[in-house]
Amino acid sequence: MKTIGVLTSGGDAPGMNAAIRGVIRTGIYNNMRMMGVKHGFNGLITGDIDDMDISSVSDIIQRGGTILRTARCDEFKTEEGQKKAINVLEVFNIDGLIILGGDGSLRGAKALSDKGIPTIGVPCTIDNDLGYTDYSIGFYTAVETVVDAISKIRDTSYSHGRSNIVEVMGRHCGDIALYSGLAGGVESILLPEVPFDIDSICKKVIQGKNRGKLHNIIVLAEGVSNAYDVAKQILDKTGIETRVTVLGHIQRGGSPVPFDRILASEMGKMAVELLMEDKSGRALGVKCNDIFDMDISEALEVEKQFDVNRYNTAKILSI
Ligand code: F6P
Repeated sequence: MKTIGVLTSGGDAPGMNAAIRGVIRTGIYNNMRMMGVKHGFNGLITGDIDDMDISSVSDIIQRGGTILRTARCDEFKTEEGQKKAINVLEVFNIDGLIILGGDGSLRGAKALSDKGIPTIGVPCTIDNDLGYTDYSIGFYTAVETVVDAISKIRDTSYSHGRSNIVEVMGRHCGDIALYSGLAGGVESILLPEVPFDIDSICKKVIQGKNRGKLHNIIVLAEGVSNAYDVAKQILDKTGIETRVTVLGHIQRGGSPVPFDRILASEMGKMAVELLMEDKSGRALGVKCNDIFDMDISEALEVEKQFDVNRYNTAKILSI
């Protein structure tokens, strides 16, 4: 293994830059030629690839986003697109590839590995929806952003005596809502994993009001329902004014928290070391604080388990 390429794909996640830094510096430390592929799989198809050196990754460990840029690439999902990518890898003499991203990106890594390209996948997504790993890079930073927003919204919720819905990202996974709701001490958490019952939400709003509570915060995961419809139902059923804040892409940006920087640095280093050991088709993950690698096909088959205990804790503490 002489030349390693790295790319970021799918939705960006805070900590991707720290992972790129981990990859590039480990490669250079081991006398490899390191290359950065731009715009995710698009750059692999079009040959938008540059050499990277130690200073290419200076001053980025603290930066959100990805210096390599990213994209969701439909062409790469086709046989034709994958053939073009493999051709480009040959033209640039890239012997191994490290792919940073979420579920779709790891599926792309698997496709290349199935076609004989040494490939390692590193989990980077704010959604934390990959079943085989406890955490993905970027998740805790997104939670931090949401908790900060909840604290601010709580101030105005209290002042006006309103109910406030905070809509968070996560696609079909409720982890951002669950963790930020627990950390933010909110009244209700609505998740795709738990059937949603408007009457029990309204009951909680009324009970809180009756015992003199001035604020009411509901964290709603985007995969559950339309936040504005839920707000209208609460107003209609309780008579209490309900406002909506959709946090949106603010959750994808910002300086990564130390947990994400550390995870990213360690995974970036390990990804290069695996390629140097001639390992391929591996996905990195973390369980009980230990970073591990496993077969990428098996990793993608592990179903995400909903953390019922954590959900119940949040429910009990928000009575
Ligand atoms: O997968 C990350 C994520 O931010 C999801 O939480 C969200 O549903 C989606 O990406 C938004 O995608 P886009 O940035 O393409 O609109």
